[in-house]
Amino acid sequence: MKSLDLQKTIQGIPKAELHLHLEGSFEPELMFEMAKRNNIALDYDSIDSLKKAYQFNNLQEFLDIYYTGAQVLIHEQDFYDLTWAYLTKVHSQNVVHVEVFFDPQTHTDRGIEFDVIIKGIYKALEKGKVELNISYKLIMSYLRHLSEAAAFETLESSIPFKELIDGVGLDSSEKGNPPSKFVKVFEASANHGYKLVAHAGEEGPADYIWEALDLLKVIRIDHGNRCLDDEALVQRLVEKKIPLTLCPLSNLELKVIQKMEDHPLVEMLSKGILATIHSDDPAYFGGYMNENYYETAKALNLNKEQLMQLAINAFEASWLSSEVKEKHISAVKNYFNSLS
Ligand code: HPA
Ligand code: ZN
Repeated sequence: MKSLDLQKTIQGIPKAELHLHLEGSFEPELMFEMAKRNNIALDYDSIDSLKKAYQFNNLQEFLDIYYTGAQVLIHEQDFYDLTWAYLTKVHSQNVVHVEVFFDPQTHTDRGIEFDVIIKGIYKALEKGKVELNISYKLIMSYLRHLSEAAAFETLESSIPFKELIDGVGLDSSEKGNPPSKFVKVFEASANHGYKLVAHAGEEGPADYIWEALDLLKVIRIDHGNRCLDDEALVQRLVEKKIPLTLCPLSNLELKVIQKMEDHPLVEMLSKGILATIHSDDPAYFGGYMNENYYETAKALNLNKEQLMQLAINAFEASWLSSEVKEKHISAVKNYFNSLS
């Protein structure tokens, strides 16, 4: 496909985004505007100098900047504006369903109340549902560099709002913070009715993916790149239809892969893994859903069947009801059938 055709094709695909950190959608322009209105001094004197700092050699270098940026978020309105900016952006890319993460501890540890965070996010998501026709699920992530006791406190704080939260996840510094550290809090989260996911096998080993499945009992793995090191694990993912939410531009920017041509997506699809494409932290990694699809399709020479499979997989992997999934999957198929 010519690059213009490819862009047009990708734009038209009805898409679901399942791996997105709201704090990672914080565009420098909005960050500067918010810093100004909240009287917060940033370490950078211009949007350009901030953008220049977005050069990462690994996950930790990114996280250090990402947590610093999040400190600008103070009021309910800030969380609302952040979420709304994300929704309007992906609406323009024909994203029709989102399952987004937020990191409460990044904010509560700075003295921001849980209700301030969740109310801002929730109001924007509801407005997106009504005005943009984007359905959503909300996932609260525990920070794995903190203790399990701290995650338990977050779980407690979330209980008054549990009707607004669909699941819990596990993110932040992976190496040295295995899923096994969070067994009890995941069990307690499930008992409160939360669905379970975890980042695993991004920088950490395949063993962490086993732990996420066997100890935490997650139903979806975020990233999971390293599963290919372990044939038995691949078999397990295929047999149980455990989705992997991959983020190609994130992988490239965090040096999980050295170049896009090395991305394991095609190998995963060929092995029958339910792999999907998402953007992770689009404001930091150079692209939202369309850009992730485009760069991957270009580097790996994806054909229309593979693009269609990826779009279908994302709805399949979502937490929508089977009827709604079917409706979206039919729309994807109709779209591809309509292409000449
Ligand atoms: N990995 C771990 N933690 C994160 C990420 C990620 O890619 N993005 C935001 N928090
Ligand atoms: Zn992530």
